[in-house]
Amino acid sequence: MELKKAILERRSIRAFSEKPVEKNLLKELLTAGIYAPTAGNIQPWLFFSITDPDGINKIRTISPGMLSDPKALICVCSDQKKAFERAGKGGKTLSLMDCAMAAQNIMLRAYDLGLGSCVIRSFNPNALREIVGAPDHIQPELIVTIGYPAENPDTPARNTDVIYREEYGKKEEGK
Ligand SMILES: Cc1cc2nc3c(=O)[nH]c(=O)nc-3n(C[C@H](O)[C@H](O)[C@H](O)COP(=O)(O)O)c2cc1C
Repeated sequence: MELKKAILERRSIRAFSEKPVEKNLLKELLTAGIYAPTAGNIQPWLFFSITDPDGINKIRTISPGMLSDPKALICVCSDQKKAFERAGKGGKTLSLMDCAMAAQNIMLRAYDLGLGSCVIRSFNPNALREIVGAPDHIQPELIVTIGYPAENPDTPARNTDVIYREEYGKKEEGK
């Protein structure tokens, strides 16, 4: 698939079919995640791949932002111990940025493979940490829901009036 198509046409999917997500495809998504840019090549992330329906349901109950019934989840977490050791105080922000980039890679690759996805930040991180059995220094940052899409949403309007040329307030010719 052309990259431009994936960037422009990927949508947040909140309705999934019953079809399970094949294990080899999930592996492709995880590979896309670990190849995201990462500040100082610290790679402060951990990925939890979850397909067990009971596990998914447990996570749904602590995720008000999860408005769907996905067949798979990837929980993108940061390792705050590693982030602090390698980047000091700045590690918190940098590791969150790294996790966001990994999530975007996962979603673009999902679209490329015919899967739907949606990134979610509205969940209880402490409860999620407990569900996956992770220690305190592992911070759940984002959940990516995954499944075969059962909807084809329109593109939410994008404001294109956000671009300046060279300096604040200076628009492209004719704008
Ligand atoms: C940081 C972040 C957090 C988000 N959290 C949620 C969420 O909790 N629940 C949800 O349904 N969508 C969530 N979204 C998805 C956005 O609602 C969605 O990207 C936006 O409406 C634009 O739609 P599009 O992804 O189809 O372009 C989140 C997106 C981002 C980037």
